[in-house]
Amino acid sequence: MRFRRSCPPRRFSCSTERKTRVNSKEETTADQTADEFDSASALPFGEAEDGEKEATRAFVVHPDLGKTEGPDSRSIDGRVQEAVGLAEAIGLDVQQAEAVRLKAVRPATLFGTGVLERLGAAINAVKAGVVIVDGHLSPVQQRNLEREWQVKVIDRTGLILEIFGARARTHEGRLQVELAALTYQRSRLVRSWTHLERQRGGFGFLGGPGESQLEIDRRLIGDRIAKLKRELEEVKRTRELHRGARKKVPHPVIALVGYTNAGKSTLFNRLTKAEVLAEDMLFATLDPTMRGLSLPSGRRVILSDTVGFISALPTQLVAAFRATLEEVLEADIILHVRDASHADTQAQKADVEAVLRSLGLDAKVDAGLPEVLNKIDQLDAEGLADQTRRVTGTALPVSALTGQGIEALLTYLDEALRNRQQVIAVTIGPADGRHLAWLYAHGEVLTREDDEEGQAHLTVGLDPAELARYQRQFPDAEIEQ
Ligand code: GTP
Repeated sequence: MRFRRSCPPRRFSCSTERKTRVNSKEETTADQTADEFDSASALPFGEAEDGEKEATRAFVVHPDLGKTEGPDSRSIDGRVQEAVGLAEAIGLDVQQAEAVRLKAVRPATLFGTGVLERLGAAINAVKAGVVIVDGHLSPVQQRNLEREWQVKVIDRTGLILEIFGARARTHEGRLQVELAALTYQRSRLVRSWTHLERQRGGFGFLGGPGESQLEIDRRLIGDRIAKLKRELEEVKRTRELHRGARKKVPHPVIALVGYTNAGKSTLFNRLTKAEVLAEDMLFATLDPTMRGLSLPSGRRVILSDTVGFISALPTQLVAAFRATLEEVLEADIILHVRDASHADTQAQKADVEAVLRSLGLDAKVDAGLPEVLNKIDQLDAEGLADQTRRVTGTALPVSALTGQGIEALLTYLDEALRNRQQVIAVTIGPADGRHLAWLYAHGEVLTREDDEEGQAHLTVGLDPAELARYQRQFPDAEIEQ
């Protein structure tokens, strides 16, 4: 019952579990209506049925329900483009993408008969092996569309789960994704599975007497979910310990947050020259990645890259996603990285801020986060001026790609951290080398004068937390603040 996560890109048919279910479905009776089917695929994921349809050739359809969502709502084009980006993020080769305006939602098939037929023909024409429906599909709708079009159909949640599954890198990230996938899967075990009910309790050890297949599946998934939750607790405890250890490292933490594909990893790489996966793929990053970095003043900081945000994140994934952002809560500076050249940049900004608020960061968001306006190489002067005007906090225009604006960004970070510092004056005796070394290592020595008696008179900038630690470590120090 493990969630597949190690499928290499462009091959998605590595689920034996799915095939098992398909087999059991063959035992169903002939008089079932289409609506009785559940969501388990008739076709193994992405597998070509007739040898012609290509497993990785995808058709993307965005159901446009015509909802008006205020001034910052996304354009339909933007939504289609985002769906295409998501599909490409798992290595699908998108042949065609379109939005379909829906006047009404059909419970059985989502789309009306005419649209179903037209789309079916279009899907066939491009030999797509998988259709992405960029919205929510009920298990019944998914199943019926697969029967109608004879291709694998996945909805937005399924797609994002695939992406998260492929991208999770740390143990914790993988556990979280598996948990989310199983929760999603459990919700898909609907009443219609009762057609598969078989008595499995014959020997008394496969399940309790009279336990139906549906109940067995639920129980197996439930067991696995409980086990995963226990493992996650354990991992979290260990992480707390590690974080505690890191906190002892006297470096401020700067977290990059931002909408998916805003360019966080590219910026992170440019700043740290580290090899973090930066691809033209959405969700290239799932787990926070941390690296050390020296600012122009010589101050060391830790830069943390986080998973990209996305609108309408399926609820099952919110917890997994949030947990990957816990590091952000402890950051000294949160940098909001934005794709300033994107048509929906304002809507993306609103999404990111909403998630940050849900993490309890209201005050920081209200005060205005520093915003890295990335991809300015794609913007003209007027566009940049317009974006800059709309930033409440500090606007930092850069191009992570060309390096433009990076120096100014580093200088800003130096200054912002310096502004947080408290400056102390202290005199250190000649024999107190350890004391002196501590200040150089943990603070920013602003001035130093050595007198004839060998005493060093220093003014030192210290972060508030460092100052507290300093006072604990050197209680006898005579500090002037
Ligand atoms: P997620 O991992 O999905 O959250 O994405 P990300 O925010 O880390 O974005 P990433 O760094 O992977 O960049 C996404 C795409 O944008 C890549 O194709 C980058 O080459 C491109 N990109 C990043 N910065 C710039 C920039 O300054 N200018 C231009 N033109 N493209 C950029």
